[in-house]
Amino acid sequence: MGEEIRYFELNNGARIPSVGLGTLMAPPAVVGDAIIAAVKAGYRHIDCARVYENEKEIGMALKKLFEDGVVKREDLWITSKLWCSHPEEVPVVLDITLQELQLDYVDLYLIHWPLAKKKDMPGFSPDCFAALDIPATWREMEKLYDSGKVRTIGVSNFSSKKLEDLLKVARVPPAVNQVECHPVWQQSKLREFCQSKGIHLTAYSPLGSPGMTWIKSDVLTNPVLNMVAENLGKTPGQVALRWGLQMGQSVVPKSTNEARIKENFDIFDWSIPEDLFAKFSEIKQRRLIDGQFFIHELGPYKSVEELWDGEI
Ligand code: A2P
Repeated sequence: MGEEIRYFELNNGARIPSVGLGTLMAPPAVVGDAIIAAVKAGYRHIDCARVYENEKEIGMALKKLFEDGVVKREDLWITSKLWCSHPEEVPVVLDITLQELQLDYVDLYLIHWPLAKKKDMPGFSPDCFAALDIPATWREMEKLYDSGKVRTIGVSNFSSKKLEDLLKVARVPPAVNQVECHPVWQQSKLREFCQSKGIHLTAYSPLGSPGMTWIKSDVLTNPVLNMVAENLGKTPGQVALRWGLQMGQSVVPKSTNEARIKENFDIFDWSIPEDLFAKFSEIKQRRLIDGQFFIHELGPYKSVEELWDGEI
């Protein structure tokens, strides 16, 4: 048996639970039940975002868990994310998130994507994005941090270059970068950069998002992953998540199925031995979520290479 790996310590001393429940789920009506099942199964970390349009349902589920005495607020780690906002909107949209979640603070607040919205285009189309003023937005994030409404601040979908630029102007350095990460997209370069700067990596789509049929995910069917799973008597999903923990990243798998919610949390009392762990370096790498949706000739990024600063 290896180390349990229940938490990771961040650069501000906070401890993020290593396994969280991702909440980008359709339809949002099922999210409340999933959260209640997850917390009862032992999850202490819920990964939310304003753009998922279900923070209200999550807030109701959390209220029920607190009222029923299942957990206390301080037992949970709640993350939310700022959606493509301009600097002056930052405190306003956080307040909406807090209101919907029925919380006084979130444990972690992330800039969701290095993008803002064009002010005159309220919808959600590829041409509605504008450049994000990262320094001014980060100053607003730092103010939220100072206010205590947000206990830790970070980013999501940032390349090494964008992080490097941010670090040059940050008074409070980002504690977390949440990005796509799984055995088929291991983020070697970004991980090395983050480690060198004390930035923790959280993996979204840690199972390769098999439910999103348009990305043609092949993570859970990967032969190396399946060989290791067979060897250890675990499922491919469990091995993908445990691989993430042993790589030093927190993971936020999504599931609305109670059995899989439990399965994905049953990864603490065993580990992948070194010889099998080494096999993961043989897996051919491919980014599944390339942000193509945000690419537009009238937007800030004209190609996926530009969005990721070449890290594709
Ligand atoms: P379901 O909700 O039916 O469990 P990711 O977190 O990488 O985005 O992947 C989420 C998807 O993976 C969801 O479609 C979820 O479906 C499915 N899923 C979650 N846990 C497992 C698992 N242990 N094995 C296989 N599929 C899983």
